[in-house]
Amino acid sequence: MKSFAPTLAALLSLYEAAQADSNSCARSNAAPAKDQVKLANCCKTLQDAGLTHVLYEGDEEYKARTASYWSVSAQLTPGCIVQPTSTEEVSLALKTLSGYGASDCQFAVRSGGHTTWAGSNNIDNGLTIDLGLMNTTTYNEAENLAKIQPGNRWGMVYGALEPHGVTVGGGRASSVGVAGFLTGGGNSFFTAHRGFACDQVQNYEVVLGSGEIINANAENNSDLFRALKGGSGNFGIVTRFDMQTFKQGNLWGGSMVYSKEHTQAHIDAYTAWVDNVENYPDGSSIIFWTYLPALKDVAIIAAYEDVAGNVAPAGFDKFMAINHTSSTMRLASHKNLTDELEQASGYRDIWFTMTFKNNPRIFKHIVDAHQKFVDEWKAGTTDHDFITQCMFQAIPTIFAKHSEERGGNVLGLEREKDNAIMLLSNIAVKGGSDTEARARTQLRAYGEELQAFAAAQGGSVEWQFMNYADSYQNPLGSYGAENVAKIKAASAKYDPKGIFQTRCPGGFKISKLQDATLPRREL
Ligand SMILES: Cc1cc2nc3c(=O)[nH]c(=O)nc-3n(C[C@H](O)[C@H](O)[C@H](O)COP(=O)(O)OP(=O)(O)OC[C@H]3O[C@@H](n4cnc5c(N)ncnc54)[C@H](O)[C@@H]3O)c2cc1C
Ligand SMILES: *[C@@H]1O[C@H](CO)[C@@H](O)[C@H](O)[C@H]1NC(C)=O
Ligand SMILES: *[C@@H]1O[C@H](CO)[C@@H](O)[C@H](O)[C@H]1NC(C)=O
Ligand SMILES: *[C@@H]1O[C@H](CO)[C@@H](O)[C@H](O)[C@H]1NC(C)=O
Ligand SMILES: *[C@@H]1O[C@H](CO)[C@@H](O)[C@H](O)[C@H]1NC(C)=O
Repeated sequence: MKSFAPTLAALLSLYEAAQADSNSCARSNAAPAKDQVKLANCCKTLQDAGLTHVLYEGDEEYKARTASYWSVSAQLTPGCIVQPTSTEEVSLALKTLSGYGASDCQFAVRSGGHTTWAGSNNIDNGLTIDLGLMNTTTYNEAENLAKIQPGNRWGMVYGALEPHGVTVGGGRASSVGVAGFLTGGGNSFFTAHRGFACDQVQNYEVVLGSGEIINANAENNSDLFRALKGGSGNFGIVTRFDMQTFKQGNLWGGSMVYSKEHTQAHIDAYTAWVDNVENYPDGSSIIFWTYLPALKDVAIIAAYEDVAGNVAPAGFDKFMAINHTSSTMRLASHKNLTDELEQASGYRDIWFTMTFKNNPRIFKHIVDAHQKFVDEWKAGTTDHDFITQCMFQAIPTIFAKHSEERGGNVLGLEREKDNAIMLLSNIAVKGGSDTEARARTQLRAYGEELQAFAAAQGGSVEWQFMNYADSYQNPLGSYGAENVAKIKAASAKYDPKGIFQTRCPGGFKISKLQDATLPRREL
């Protein structure tokens, strides 16, 4: 798929994006002929080594795998897509690639493919290791563990566990991939009970750059164990996650839609909610202001759950008091609720995340600025098929307390002393990479103004959640010097040749941290 015709406009906007955006893995155009030959050799070497599922650009399956990236932004054109079917094949692939010598095969690693930005989970001038065929989930009742391969989507995991009356705390939309989500931390319906999803991983099976297969847990390779809880693809390829399961019946949950007139009532309800999470850990509430093309306007949508299955418990009273236009609230299974919370794919997506203290003035400012952002985008385009979300999630201090009780991670949230709110603001656009670049520039400017506003109100929180961050943001750097040091040390120890820094350059890489801390507006 040549989605990247080098028109002058596209090249210009790429140039601008690269200027604005020196941390982005700005994609280049199709590789020059010499690189194409080298790349073909890389792919052939893997086939010669015995990997049987190697897909090339003309193949139907190559097209299907490319189309299965959630965001069009991430649908690049690798020289081939290699699909290992087992841990041993991942090992063989890495051994072959890292031993390939001077030719330097570059590669990307993809599990669910849900990260939106180009170059995180895919690569143009290289090959992509796609873990989609490694997608089993097995339940071990005696150990209370789900053994989950990285190519799963969360809906598949919940579906496999449901017959046993158990689940795990994972993604809230069923198509989201397991491996990127868990290595990025993972915020679930159960965070107020059990910490982040990564805090529930008891063991990681990992293939290192050398091809060696190891296990990381509290007993063995415990430094890697900890670093993998938020440290992303900096150390190796995770080929199995052993997650603690818990008994789970139906949840009460669903979504409710409101008109935007109720903005202030929602802000009041949500800020009260954030301070009450500690008293009501069964509850989960996500709320977002969203421009919808069908509506041609902004509406408010909330996703509520009570994980104990209590119907409309008192914790939700403030939200229930607000007049809504529709509701799907019901008792349903974990899988069923996450099937509902899917979001439209097939767009180019640009995300921005920040965290701020639980302060209604900052909240209101962000919602007002979102409306302005929508109005400006609408005024500057003839294509009104775009979607925005300005989404809020509670990050109370109890989350990090649970993480600490479970052994800790590298997210660094325990440094925050006040309850906070995480913003994910995003825009999904149709059109080409020039439209995407323009949207990124505008969203970034909007985000920087929000950060400055929060700072001026004394409400900044440094923390940026990797799972929601765009290429130009700096989540790893926001986890604090102590955690950066842990991630660096684990990377140096388990990947001494830096395979996952140089050969596999995509994603948030610890060696790029200097570049990432570019002149930013002072926080
Ligand atoms: C609709 C939607 C809903 C979402 N809901 C949530 C939510 O509820 N909570 C939340 O926390 N996040 C959520 N996210 C964000 C999501 O967690 C991230 O996009 C995450 O990266 C997805 O995982 P993936 O397997 O699809 O990652 P990919 O995009 O495949 O990979 C992400 C990064 O991880 C690396 N990687 C992939 N597999 C491996 C592996 N096996 N070993 C080592 N590194 C690997 C990749 O190289 C890449 O850098 C959502 C995203 C979308 C689009
Ligand atoms: C899961 O993997 C199998 C092969 O291991 C493959 O046939 C199947 O299509 C995969 N399922 C999904 C949903 O990708
Ligand atoms: C740790 O490694 C030892 C030695 O290989 C092994 O016997 C033990 O089972 C491992 N423990 C865990 C929890 O993996
Ligand atoms: C909710 O809507 C009803 C009519 O649909 C109206 O009578 C009532 O005043 C509204 N309540 C609030 C709090 O807006
Ligand atoms: C949830 O389950 C109900 C009842 O079985 C079903 O009608 C509905 O389609 C399911 N919802 C989703 C989103 O799968």
